[in-house]
Amino acid sequence: MCGIVAAVAQRNVQGILLEGLKRLEYRGYDSAGMTVLHDNQLTRHRAQGKVAMLEACLTEQALPGTCGIAHTRWATHGRPSEANAHPHQSSERIAVVHNGIIENYQSLKQSLRDKGYLFTSETDTEVLAHLLADTQQQGMSLLAAVQQCLATLKGAYALGVMSTRDPSVVVGARQGSPLVVGVGIDEAFLASDPLALLQVTDRFIYLEEGDVVELREGGKISLFDSRGNVVERPVHTFEHGDGAASKGDYRHYMLKEIFEQPEVIAAALEGRLSDEGVLVESFGPEAVAHFQTLKQIHIVACGTSYHAGLVARYWLERYAGVPVQVEVASEYRYRQVVVPEGTLFVTLSQSGETADTLAALRFAKTRGYVGSLAICNVPGSSLVRESDLCLMTRAGPEIGVASTKAFTTQLVALMLLTLAIARAQGGKVDREIITALRGLPKLCQEVLALDPAIESLAQSFAEKHHALFLGRGAHFPIALEGALKLKEISYIHAEAYPAGELKHGPLALVDSEMPVIAVAPNDDLLEKLKSNLQEVRARGGLLYVFADESVGMTEEPEVQVLTLPYVHEALAPLLYTLPLQLLSYHVAVLKGTDVDQPRNLAKSVTVE
Ligand code: G6P
Repeated sequence: MCGIVAAVAQRNVQGILLEGLKRLEYRGYDSAGMTVLHDNQLTRHRAQGKVAMLEACLTEQALPGTCGIAHTRWATHGRPSEANAHPHQSSERIAVVHNGIIENYQSLKQSLRDKGYLFTSETDTEVLAHLLADTQQQGMSLLAAVQQCLATLKGAYALGVMSTRDPSVVVGARQGSPLVVGVGIDEAFLASDPLALLQVTDRFIYLEEGDVVELREGGKISLFDSRGNVVERPVHTFEHGDGAASKGDYRHYMLKEIFEQPEVIAAALEGRLSDEGVLVESFGPEAVAHFQTLKQIHIVACGTSYHAGLVARYWLERYAGVPVQVEVASEYRYRQVVVPEGTLFVTLSQSGETADTLAALRFAKTRGYVGSLAICNVPGSSLVRESDLCLMTRAGPEIGVASTKAFTTQLVALMLLTLAIARAQGGKVDREIITALRGLPKLCQEVLALDPAIESLAQSFAEKHHALFLGRGAHFPIALEGALKLKEISYIHAEAYPAGELKHGPLALVDSEMPVIAVAPNDDLLEKLKSNLQEVRARGGLLYVFADESVGMTEEPEVQVLTLPYVHEALAPLLYTLPLQLLSYHVAVLKGTDVDQPRNLAKSVTVE
């Protein structure tokens, strides 16, 4: 994680770098810093805490200069502090910002100490600053020094480096962590994510693994592959526009993103449905061949994306008749996985840069799968580039750390996948589901209109310390997602159970202090779920039931019911996610937590 932004421009870069950092704060917000070259001297400000703390330092004392690097940190080596904040410098000559982990930093540190270098931080990054300074002493350019040093590093990282010996030059490198080059008019930039630079350009080069780039005055960009050969990479135009970077009239990004769901779900469906069913080619020209012959699917993801995979298992088995395994990437990648013949490997990821998911894909490529499919929100991300097939979820940039619209658009994509595979394998087109999919944006709007009722429900959660979420079938993963949202942003301990497991343990926790939230649409497990809810009531538990009218749940002193519109059973997991998102949001607001940037977390996890 951590966010990098750098600029070699014709104007003062402080404002560009600061705005870039604000936009990258989703990647970490423990500390921030900036180094700018002025009169051939490096000047630096660093501050513990969010980018706003750095901004306050810059207001007191500006950093003028046309060439600079900046960083927002998510601590890995060393606690969050000013001393550990980037950029790290060596001998006032070299400054480095770094994202990722240098695994062999201890041995490098020892040999640099032996040469007399003094360390002032606990980070792995400072090792690199001294290593570069030491290498450059041999009289080489910054570019050559970086290329030489990279050969000695182990780990996954992205870098931005500047030096007083090569004024108006920034060198960047990518090995396992994302880095893009922003192409300006006579200016050039680097960032961990295009979003950071949309204020100055919409043209980007996505670096490949092992690439090194040199940015020079006048917008000169030179690219080299891992062997040092000069390479050309295509320039992509960013298509989402820059609107996503602002909260608009909303108090938080998360709320804005929750309310964007009708629009982005419609976008995720656009051009992918015909009267004959899902257009299989939406997944890429080779999708038909892959889908016709596949026999099994393995889905791998992390966090909220993993929950989407769990829902998809129910869908793919029920509507496409394909056996599915779903696993968290950090476990999958270290398992001696057995891959049955004809298995397709599917990754789900909002960012397309999650280190464990990416490593799982690379591992999977050695295991004999028939192909790989990425369902992802970020075009040009590593996962998309390295997969055989892809389907973009089109949620637009998601800034709130707690994922909302990215999740529901993943679910739309996964339902499209289910129907596409069923179709490719000669199954009957399920017109009811297709009609229901088309009506989904409107139903989402109706659910979002229940916001005031959900806000008042939230009152009774704000003082609680625990909560239990229940669901059955495809609604169990929705209960898991509801519990994750609540703990992520309100810090209330929340767990989810398949309701049938209640009596095997969690029922012991149920008393009048334990709110129990039931995801209860009218499906074929409803009667069983209702019996489970009686078990809660009999123990004096407080029930909050999310159901439609046909479920026939009535309000009582210990039972509150939120009535949702009727939705086709297949799409209920999608629709029932929205009230759970709103519930967590309002509880977090009542508790006064940092909704968009909850403590200890980051949105994009590009370290293992
Ligand atoms: C982090 C984020 C989660 C996200 C997970 C996987 O933990 O905070 O919201 O679900 O990473 O991210 P991905 O980008 O792969 O979906």
